[in-house]
Amino acid sequence: MSDDQGAARGWADPTMPVTERVRALLAAMTLPEKVGQLHQVANPDPVRDAEALAAGAFGSCIVASGEHAGNVRDAGAGAEVVNALQRAAVESSRLGVPLLVARDVIHGHRTVFPIPLGQAASFDADLVRDCARVAAREATADGVRWTFAPMLDVAQDPRWGRVAESCGEDAWLTAHLGAAAVEGFQGGPGGLSDARDTLAACAKHFVGYGLVQGGRDYAEVEVGPVTLHNRHLRPFRAAVDAGVATVMSAFPTVDGTPMTAHGPLLRDHLKGELGFAGPVVSDWDAVGELCAHGVAADHRQAAALAFTAGVDIDMVTGAYHEHLADLVGAEAVPAGRLDDAVGRVLALKLRLGLFEDPFTDPTLASSVHLAPAHRALARRAAAGAVVVLRNDGVLPLAGRNDAAASRHLHVTGPFATAAGELLGTWTLDGRAQDTVSIAEAFRERFASGATRVTVDDGRFIDDTLVTARTADLVVACVGEHPMRSGEANSVTSLDLPPGQVEVLAALARVSRRLVVVVLSGRPLALERLEHLGDALVLVFHPGVEGGHGIVDVLTGDVPPSGRLPSSMPWTTGQVPVHHDQLPTGRPLDPDGPVGRYRDHRDTPALPFGFGLGYSAVRYEDLRLSAPKIGPGQVVTATVRLTCQGEHRVVETAQLYLRPHVAGVSRPVGELAGVARAVLEPGQSTEVTFALDHAALGHRDAAGRWCTDPGRWTVRVAPHAGAGRTAELEVAASPEPSPVPSPEPVPRPGGGGHPDDLNDT
Ligand code: BGC
Repeated sequence: MSDDQGAARGWADPTMPVTERVRALLAAMTLPEKVGQLHQVANPDPVRDAEALAAGAFGSCIVASGEHAGNVRDAGAGAEVVNALQRAAVESSRLGVPLLVARDVIHGHRTVFPIPLGQAASFDADLVRDCARVAAREATADGVRWTFAPMLDVAQDPRWGRVAESCGEDAWLTAHLGAAAVEGFQGGPGGLSDARDTLAACAKHFVGYGLVQGGRDYAEVEVGPVTLHNRHLRPFRAAVDAGVATVMSAFPTVDGTPMTAHGPLLRDHLKGELGFAGPVVSDWDAVGELCAHGVAADHRQAAALAFTAGVDIDMVTGAYHEHLADLVGAEAVPAGRLDDAVGRVLALKLRLGLFEDPFTDPTLASSVHLAPAHRALARRAAAGAVVVLRNDGVLPLAGRNDAAASRHLHVTGPFATAAGELLGTWTLDGRAQDTVSIAEAFRERFASGATRVTVDDGRFIDDTLVTARTADLVVACVGEHPMRSGEANSVTSLDLPPGQVEVLAALARVSRRLVVVVLSGRPLALERLEHLGDALVLVFHPGVEGGHGIVDVLTGDVPPSGRLPSSMPWTTGQVPVHHDQLPTGRPLDPDGPVGRYRDHRDTPALPFGFGLGYSAVRYEDLRLSAPKIGPGQVVTATVRLTCQGEHRVVETAQLYLRPHVAGVSRPVGELAGVARAVLEPGQSTEVTFALDHAALGHRDAAGRWCTDPGRWTVRVAPHAGAGRTAELEVAASPEPSPVPSPEPVPRPGGGGHPDDLNDT
């Protein structure tokens, strides 16, 4: 760019409003330069692609291997390469428009946190926000300014491998945690900050991907408008309210139309009714895939369909690059659409501060990556991804009085010594050598003292059994390899991988005490694990500090706080078996002879929200601040919690709602809030939920947003299958409207803050 061009045309002045700077840029750009802003390439090279960069032919790039999505570690971005790309884009080009560098920073960067499903098990928005903030700091030190996260698909079929990337089965929890992740990546509430350590977030995959038939990745989706709006669009509304900078369209077809070409949902609903003002990016090669879907004959038609539907950026197909200028010239796409799309991209780059400073300090990464505070957060997050499912008194290990019971502890199984496998799917920048294994963490914890720790990986189970018979306690670490979950990794069976149950059964026969630790990227079927061992602990792939986090919880150094973000079925044949199902016309008598299945139980093995602490907690005395609620009003629900055991607990109280009569059938219970409390042995505390009338609305069959008047049941519970109830009289909303007002998030009150635990 010549020295004075930017200043002369106005867009270089950072004091000018973004809209005016965008206008000035658009006025200066040629048609090919505009099209360039909508063309996203993969892994550009500053030398090989110097000419294209200088011509402004690339608006953004994704640094990632396109193969084995999310499961291949590559060299990564890196400040030096990104700076070279920016020099080519900014200093050699006519207008000096910087490149936007993207990468999938899904659950951490070099410091890898638990997979999103594991972070969701914390039910803790502050933790999720903090993890995203750290991920942004680390990724921006490598020159990345855009992440394709958070994933907001409501995932109710655990056969789908991408359940690992989700917040589980519940729309409220996904919305609540998704909004927190957006805030963390983007630098706080209120939208994208232009600080240099923020990432533009991307709410994906818009929309319905969590419903792929049979859990088969990329398969078709069938969903009616009531379910789509009340459940699957809800997290996207929350992300838009939280100021998410970008949205990604989903791969599948929804009711026959590929989402990449879905004008009614992308253009009319997301950008129209919801007022989303940022760019929509296609998923990887999804514009080209419109041909395979059978709705476009060639890339030209595919480009026209996607662009008209509202997809602003074509990720890697190159169809916009090849055909958009021609389509605009031929008036084959709507007038004004090009400037609208380009304006969205330019505004994002301006808001990120890229025009002022597109470069990254190459010395930054070494001090930021894996910083001690980041590792400490990762350890806390890993402990939060541990859910205690059954405990016949063997846990916590360090709390046991019978000293003899813990003299020889044997740790075995494929996950005992595993390191890189603890990181989970979509960890492009995680490294095995940074990761603390479960065996290492046990050895460290019992380095001094009377307990002897022995370890093997269980490859020769006949030999392991001999050790197991003499050990006082065996910890068997089994589960799924991370490649068994994630994109394109669906399964037909939710059982443990072949052979593991047999090994556990053999261990259970010979061990004095057996703790079974299952690591996984999805909810698993529990039928064959029901009686094996003295305790059963589920850990969603926990990240770089996984070993520490797991041992912290098993020993009782940190109270277990994980809760199930998805129901755990008995058997694969039960799925989907999520907690917020609709009632039927023939409710079941739980004690009656008739069930939904002839061959199995109707309910899951463990409900959504379930997770044991090391002390029982009593819920009592649920009170509402008023018996009625009307528009503009807030009613609080308060419950008393008491720790009944000898161990400190972190309790996650959950608020569920159900109207007695509604215009459309509503779920048997909908999560509407969570509140955490830290309780010392014997301590009582109260937690309070604020219930805002504006949060009670839903979309009816006529497409209007309304609130059903009448009696509602308010339930406060330790999980979806229990709780104390009270009745609330709800008044109707005054004016049904096509779009909901921004959703107020119920804020917890009372109880200690979980951060208090750091003091111990
Ligand atoms: C995935 C997206 C991801 C993109 C870019 C696709 O295969 O569906 O979630 O962001 O690749 O890596």
